[in-house]
Formats: sequence, structure tokens, C-alpha cells
Amino acid sequence: MQVGKAEPLSVVNRRPKITVVGAGNVGATVAQYAVEKELGDVVLVDVIEGVPQGKALDLLQAGPIHGYDSTLTGSNGYEETADSDIVIITAGLARKPGMTRDDLLFKNAEIVGAVVEQVVPRSRNAILVLVTNPLDAMVQLAWKKSGFAAERVIGMAGVLDSSRFRTFIARELGVSVENVTAFVLGGHGDTMVPLPRYSTVAGIPITDLLPPERIEALVKRTREGGAEIVNFLKTGSAYYAPAASVVEMVEAILKDKKKILPCAAYLNGPYGVRGLYVGVPVKLGRCGVEQIIEIKLTSEEQTAFQQSAAAVRELVDKLKL
Ligand code: LAC
Repeated sequence: MQVGKAEPLSVVNRRPKITVVGAGNVGATVAQYAVEKELGDVVLVDVIEGVPQGKALDLLQAGPIHGYDSTLTGSNGYEETADSDIVIITAGLARKPGMTRDDLLFKNAEIVGAVVEQVVPRSRNAILVLVTNPLDAMVQLAWKKSGFAAERVIGMAGVLDSSRFRTFIARELGVSVENVTAFVLGGHGDTMVPLPRYSTVAGIPITDLLPPERIEALVKRTREGGAEIVNFLKTGSAYYAPAASVVEMVEAILKDKKKILPCAAYLNGPYGVRGLYVGVPVKLGRCGVEQIIEIKLTSEEQTAFQQSAAAVRELVDKLKL
């Protein structure tokens, strides 16, 4: 055997190509977690010269220790992103203390729009995963700009929000996070709708395990989970849990797992919502959103969901989408 001289077996057998746009804290951590799971080769793109190149090279050099053979490439342009299987868009401004996600609307719309214009002609079959805030409006914008089928444009928010809720439930009850599932619907914002009835510990609804006022406190902390971290960090927002959430979605898609996860998906009928991206449980597989799961809501929950959808619609209208 002549090591180093073999031809690649087949280009068809290449690893999936994952582009991450934005090499800030979220983007770089997505790249890190994705290669640690060896989900594919990563192209990290950012406008700041040297940063994506430096971070990609640094992560590449962690490969021998972690045992991954994924390659990482950093770039200030989009040529290297051609033929990506999945493109994760994290580019945009992050919140500062006192800012709402909506304050970011117009600036980030400009950034995300420009990114989509660069990405789409080079990767016509890719699945787009949006992370930039305000999340639901940014997904709607990316979908409109891309011309892609709605199932191939998805937003990350519900996985993060439900992971926060799971963390708080597990700590409240002193049980493993692995025993806790949680459901969060609606937009990624102050109107998000955590659903205690569908949130369980080893299959038991938390409504059977905790008094209503404790549940309400955990729900409130979940709603404000992003701001709690912004207030600590001061110069930016959360990134470890957001990146882990993105990578769970990427894994479900690239491995065609058919995993049910809460994501921002395009609704045109389910839950009584038409023509709008908002957070609902979906089945994620190689085709993207393969099914929207419609669960029965009480009238109170339905009202909260409608209010959340209305808040998203307001932003989408401001962008004239
Ligand atoms: C958060 C920001 C990223 O929820 O929206 O942490």
C-alpha cells in the first residue's frame, strides 16, 4: 500500500459539505461541534479577513486529538461553498444588553439577504438553516430570496428554547437531562409558547410533577433565556447551546434520521396559520422538513400560539415580504 498516492475512491463518496456563514462565536462553535461529530467537511465563511481562515485551521489542527478527518476551509468569499449539502447562516449582528431580537431586524435582513444571494446560485440543492435573529422573520426572508421549496429552508430556535426548558426542568427536579423532553412552540421571541402538558420526565407530564407556580417560573426563565445570557456576556449573545442546537438539526438532516424537532417551518394551513414561518414540531430528514406535526392545543395554548404568530407576522410585514 502506498500511503498518500491513492486516488480518491469516488467523488460520490465524499463527505457531506457543510457551509457555515459567519465565523463569530455561533458559527465557529457550529463548525467545531459538526467536525467533532464528523458530520462532513466544513467551509467557514466570514467577511472579516483572516478570521474564518484562522479558526478553520485551528479546528483542523484539533482533528488528530479528537480523531476527526473532516476538512475545514476558511474563506472570505463564496467560491469554496459550491455544491454544499447544507448551508447554515449565522451572519448578522448579535444582541447587546437591552436590545430585543427585533431591534436587529433591518440590519440583519440586509446581511442575510446578501448572503442568500451569494449562496444560492452555487448550491442549488442545499438545505438552508437560519440562525440569525430575529429568527422567524430571517427564515421567511431567506426562503423568499432563495426561491427554494419551503421544506429546504428551516430556522433554528425551538431546539434551543426547548433545550433551555429541559435544563431548567431537570435541575428543578434533580433528574438527568436525558429523562426530560420539552415542547416549545411559536416564534423565537418573548411570545414563544412552552407547552408544559407535552413536557415530560421519563414520560410523565411535568404538570403531574410540579405545582403551577413553579412551572410558570421555569416557563418565564425559558422565554427570557436568551436575554439572561446576553446580560451576563454584555458584548454578545449565547453560542454554545445555539450551536449544539444547530448541529442536532444538521445531524438529523444529513443522516436522514426523521427526527422530530421543533423548528421554524413554513406553515400554510396547519395550526390555522397561512404563509408564515413559525416554530412547530417537524420531522427532519435528508429532504429537510419532511412533515409538519400538528398537535392538539387547548384553546388557551392556541391563543398563545396565534399571538406568537401575529408577532412574527408583524416583523415580516415590516420587511414587506
Ligand atoms: C438566544 C439568542 C441567540 O436565544 O436568540 O440566545
